[in-house]
Formats: sequence, C-alpha cells, structure tokens
Amino acid sequence: MYPLIPAHQIALRVAAMGRLIGDDYRNKSLTVLGVLNGSIILVADLIRSVQVPHRVGFVHASSYGGPTTASGSLTIGWNLLPEIQGRHVLLIDDIFDTGKTLVRLTDTLQQQRPASLRTAVLLWKQGASEVQAVPDYFGFQIPNKFVVGYGLDYGDDYRHLSDVHVLEESDLEGSAV
Ligand code: IMP
Ligand code: MG
Repeated sequence: MYPLIPAHQIALRVAAMGRLIGDDYRNKSLTVLGVLNGSIILVADLIRSVQVPHRVGFVHASSYGGPTTASGSLTIGWNLLPEIQGRHVLLIDDIFDTGKTLVRLTDTLQQQRPASLRTAVLLWKQGASEVQAVPDYFGFQIPNKFVVGYGLDYGDDYRHLSDVHVLEESDLEGSAV
C-alpha cells in the first residue's frame, strides 16, 4: 500500500469544491444526497464549506461479487431517501469508476422529479468508465488503480484512513475485518 493523495491536499480540494457548489446553488433548494457507505467522509467535509442552506440525505448502494468488485450486481436501498421532488439534488459518491453506480442511481432518482440532478465525487478513475455520463464535480482524476481511505474500502476496511492510498496485489489477500 502506498499513499496517493495526502489528507491536506484532499482538505484543500474538498473545501474548494464546497465553495464552488455553494456558489452554483445560491438561492436554490439544495439537497445533498450521499451514497452510503463510501461517501460518509466526503459528505461530512464537503457540506461544511457549502455556504448556502441545504438539506442532507442518504441512499444506500452496495455491489456484491468480491471485496474489490465495483460492477457486480448492484443493490440500492431507498428507505432513507428524503422527499426530493422539486428540489435541486446533488448526488455524492466516493469514486466514479465504471460509472454504473451513479448512472443507475441518477436514472432512478429522475423518476422522483427533482428540479435538477447533478453528481459529485472525490475521485474519477481515468480509463475505467463504461458509461456516457461524467461527474459534474470531482476532486481528483486518478489512474486506474484500486484505492482505499477517505471513505473508500476494501472488504469494508480502510475507510477510516485520512489519506487516499493505492492497494497493491500483495495487500489484496486476507482482510482483517
Ligand atoms: P462504479 O459503479 O464502477 O463507478 O463503482 C462505484 C463504486 O465502486 C464506488 O461507490 C465504490 O464503492 C466502488 N469502487 C470503485 N473503485 C473503487 C476503488 O478503487 N476502491 C474502493 N472502492 C471502489
Ligand atoms: Mg465500496
């Protein structure tokens, strides 16, 4: 495992994203909608620099098929979803990899008729996309490697790390949790 993006750089970038989002949503009825579990740290940090009134809600998405599998069968949980009809929704996830998770979520959320729907991610993996869509806001473009930390997990561990790290083959064997 080796560090890719240090915590202080993430903090600066996330604060800048939050200020930009605040400017873009001035005088709009904003709902920030985090995708659990990976977005928890990003949502917590980001909303503190979004200097306009907004609501915060969550949806749940998880993929099965192995600890690093992003594009296996995706299960979405809507039971936490707040009322979003007529509101400007910003959907937040940790990473845009194949893009399938955010496309599935945005397609379904559109049925609730939000006033607008955009996406924001901390990381955008280059060369991995399998969809036409791109994130509306992103923190960093990264190489097509498996990363952990700042909310991103491997086998549900490592989310608590402050820096983003690249996991190597030798790390991908046993998991402690
Ligand atoms: P996508 O549907 O392929 O864009 O994948 C999105 C989801 O896969 C994210 O919400 C993550 O949970 C997971 N994921 C994709 N790439 C990584 C990674 O490098 N590290 C940890 N999780 C990842
Ligand atoms: Mg995950």
